[in-house]
Amino acid sequence: MAQPAETVHGSKPKSGSAWWVEPYLTVLALGLFGVYSLWLVFFQHTGQFQNLLSPFFSPTQSWGIKLLPALWVLWVPLLFRATCYYYRKEIYRGFFHDPMACGIPESRRKFYFGETRFPFIWTNLHRWFWYLALVVLVFLWIDAIKSFIFPSGFGVSLGSVIMLVNVILLSAYSLSCHAFRHLIGGGSQKFSCADGTPTTRYKLWRKVSDWNERHGLFAWVSMFSVWFTDVYIRLLIYGVIHPVRFF
Ligand code: FES
Repeated sequence: MAQPAETVHGSKPKSGSAWWVEPYLTVLALGLFGVYSLWLVFFQHTGQFQNLLSPFFSPTQSWGIKLLPALWVLWVPLLFRATCYYYRKEIYRGFFHDPMACGIPESRRKFYFGETRFPFIWTNLHRWFWYLALVVLVFLWIDAIKSFIFPSGFGVSLGSVIMLVNVILLSAYSLSCHAFRHLIGGGSQKFSCADGTPTTRYKLWRKVSDWNERHGLFAWVSMFSVWFTDVYIRLLIYGVIHPVRFF
């Protein structure tokens, strides 16, 4: 692995520094996830097993919403993740190698305008995709609740627990979003009341800020939980494994 000649400060990265590991793991994980998603689009036509519905196929299948197969995967969830501030950092580092890490100089290209012009200006639509992602999240919560309802009544299965954990992680990812943090507190110069008592809005902003510090973690675990949930349901559909009902 060739090391960049020097950092923006003119000094070489510390020898033994594994700054390149994260970008390449990102390429591997996002690449495999992308291939899996395309496989679903072109070769799979259902994500439902009894009362379990794959998050890739919600809300199209359970709510009868007619979308082209590609749109099952490629609409809001993909656009929401692709424009996420955290994933943008990872994508720029992993796929474009520019910049590779903090302290590694950017390429000095003549016609590079960052996200201020085409083609990357569209990533500024992230806050609008956040609103749409909330709609998807509502459907996923309903799907998760429905997974606890069996013909005989309320029950708990391994699949329903997996779906519940998945939607909790997706909620953590969505509610720790930078756009949501800005929505809560971005327009305010001052939160406190005249007597210095923190307002409800300030407390909420503090809470979202705490979640926001873990946004990268939520981004990864929620992506893998979506993946895992679909794999589990798909194995049930193919009869490779059998459903486990706790009660
Ligand atoms: Fe990552 Fe909004 S910044 S989802």
